[in-house]
Amino acid sequence: MILLLQKIIEDYFLLKYIVCPLGLLLALILTYFLAKFFITEIYFSFFKKRLNFRNGLVIVLTGGSNGIGLELSYLLANNHGKDITLLILDVQENREQINILNSKCSKAEFISCDLSQQKQIEQAFQEIIDKYNCVDILINNAAVALIEYFDAMTIQSFFKAQQINLLSYMKLTHLFLNQKNFANKKDKCILFMGSVAGFQVGLKTSEYASSKFGLVMFNETLRSELKMQEKYKEVKLTIINPYQVDTELFKGFKTFFKQLFPTLNAKKVAQTVYSSLIQRRNIVFINWHYEVFIFFVSNLPAWLKDLAGLITLKDTLNTLAGKQQKFPGQAAQKSLQSQ
Ligand SMILES: NC(=O)c1ccc[n+]([C@@H]2O[C@H](COP(=O)([O-])OP(=O)(O)OC[C@H]3O[C@@H](n4cnc5c(N)ncnc54)[C@H](O)[C@@H]3O)[C@@H](O)[C@H]2O)c1
Repeated sequence: MILLLQKIIEDYFLLKYIVCPLGLLLALILTYFLAKFFITEIYFSFFKKRLNFRNGLVIVLTGGSNGIGLELSYLLANNHGKDITLLILDVQENREQINILNSKCSKAEFISCDLSQQKQIEQAFQEIIDKYNCVDILINNAAVALIEYFDAMTIQSFFKAQQINLLSYMKLTHLFLNQKNFANKKDKCILFMGSVAGFQVGLKTSEYASSKFGLVMFNETLRSELKMQEKYKEVKLTIINPYQVDTELFKGFKTFFKQLFPTLNAKKVAQTVYSSLIQRRNIVFINWHYEVFIFFVSNLPAWLKDLAGLITLKDTLNTLAGKQQKFPGQAAQKSLQSQ
């Protein structure tokens, strides 16, 4: 039997020179990711110093009125409400949420801020500093998604969405790092909500995907830069990259290969954001196999990437509606586009 197998292997060029090496390569890659996953889990679960939600910690959460941000605000309030000050920066006030937060937190506040407006960001941040002295944890979570082909949207709406999805994250991070009272350096964190969309080909998501891709490199560069400067050594950066979540943002998105890439639940994603904050993690994909998927997809040649994008996203083009984004002061996305 073994001899027969040996003969087959020796006889068949394809098997010997292509299938076997490819199989071996695949096995090596999977082993690498599995080992990385287990080592990372062990390190962050048992050895890494955890975030201390000490009394008086001031947390700013953007886009906290809906979806993942809303779930995260409840998690923070339930677990640390008596110690923290929780500030929600959003364009949309969620009264019910603020009432719940006020019943659980010693201090919780909604601050109206349109993140597409630099002036409003500056004013909101200054207001926070004047009132609470400093910000300890900055959670950049707000986002919009323009579901349209690039050429079909106005460049103004594209830029406005970039302001919210990318530039507001940078602006707030800049204000955070330059605040005068950088008092207790130990528990300082900045968290970015990224997305798998920043790594894989998407259709009708040129704005969203490019902002998320930009965020990945911003996070990478800033992390290295902060480590080089003594005063920021203790500041922890985290980026979370979920796949599609059951919020309004990508309403109607149909996932391809549902068994392997199911739609994620906002509560579960918020739970991961929360535990990643506590464990002070760097880059987080909600499940480890998404990282493997991204590794393979981003290393494909362009024509294969496009083909994979077409196959996996064709179905969703007819159903994907998103939030029909209403920008402040605008009736609907369409009217913004016709500006
Ligand atoms: N939903 C998904 O499938 C998915 C997947 C991957 C990553 N994410 C990321 O998770 C984060 C949260 O998304 P979500 O699904 O909870 O979305 P969501 O639409 O439910 O919530 C977004 C929040 O941002 C706020 N917001 C929008 N424009 C704003 C502005 N100009 N100023 C201030 N606030 C503004 C909204 O009012 C809302 O409260 C986003 O960064 C998103 O990119 C979402």
